Amino acid sequence: MVFIRVDVCGVFRDYRTVWMRGNSVFMINQPLIPHKFEVVEFKCYRDTARAISDMVVRGAGAIGACGGYALAQAALEAPDDGFLEFVHGAEQVINGTRPTAQDLFYATRRVMECICGVEDANGAREAAVGEAQKIADENARGGEMIGKYGEKLIRDKMRVLTHCNAGWLAFVDWGSAIAPIYAAKRCGRNVFVYVDETRPRCQGARLTAWELCQEGVEHAVIADNASGYYMRRGDVDIVIVGADRVACNGDVANKIGTYEKAVLAHENGIPFYVAAPRSTIDLSCKSGDGIPIEERAEDEVLSVFGWSSELSRMLTVRVAPEGSHALNPAFDVTPAKYITGIITDAGVVKANEKAIGKLF
Ligand code: MRU
Repeated sequence: MVFIRVDVCGVFRDYRTVWMRGNSVFMINQPLIPHKFEVVEFKCYRDTARAISDMVVRGAGAIGACGGYALAQAALEAPDDGFLEFVHGAEQVINGTRPTAQDLFYATRRVMECICGVEDANGAREAAVGEAQKIADENARGGEMIGKYGEKLIRDKMRVLTHCNAGWLAFVDWGSAIAPIYAAKRCGRNVFVYVDETRPRCQGARLTAWELCQEGVEHAVIADNASGYYMRRGDVDIVIVGADRVACNGDVANKIGTYEKAVLAHENGIPFYVAAPRSTIDLSCKSGDGIPIEERAEDEVLSVFGWSSELSRMLTVRVAPEGSHALNPAFDVTPAKYITGIITDAGVVKANEKAIGKLF
């Protein structure tokens, strides 16, 4: 563990977002953050897969690492007889959890290749667990490298705007968009962060704000529709967001609302950076038009959920009329022309096919 200290009832401990021990996968229960810190254990791959679709764990990098662990879990569960069929079935289940985050498919493909490269079931089980762990470690290291490269873009007293949560909760450690902020802070620079609340699930208000509190970074949560106001006033120096999938031509899928931030940044002459490791780049996807966009339940839009201090538990409260329906795309695509650069684990590159191609 390189970085994150969580203050749980006054006791500081270092945590990764997701990890595997024995046959179990453990993760921080993200829907409870920032109100309660809890680690949950999943003992079989189906439960781990359900944790991905239910967003107990979320964020492209963390989903990827978790998907790799889930497939390793499936290899441990699989009977000797019919081993490969069982594991192939599990791969389908895991890949079916969330369609947009490229890291998920990156991780399951790598674990699957390892499994298929070994003759006997026991050897395949061992290889699967080893590869899943390697993916998680690379994920943490990738965030650290993004921090190192991205930190150079952040001068003292800069005001950064970010959308959703691309901090360490969205990865195994460090994060993508927030990693440069953490690294700049560690170099002694002061940074102020505008945190978009990010409706409907409020990953900004709940998760990014909580992470920044843990790390002592000055910030303010703003309503999603306030970012244009601050950009036009000249109060935002740089926008940094994460990515769920990057296409070959530099188009980027990220949390719904990212596209409008990019257009606003362009209109106001503000640099707009995307931070993502190479595992988020989909070389089989020519442009953003080919990226599948997840549609989630309409309830997420029609209601809000948060902590009730009266009841001491999470509570969902209906906002829209009972007769109303909602549309809930979880991501949008920002065209490459609005992106100043992509901060990767191998350096900062332009958002175009030539520059992206050179990363591999
Ligand atoms: O739906 P989520 O919470 O899994 O969404 C992913 C995100 O948090 C963002 O889109 C983020 O900016 C990219 S993930 C590193």
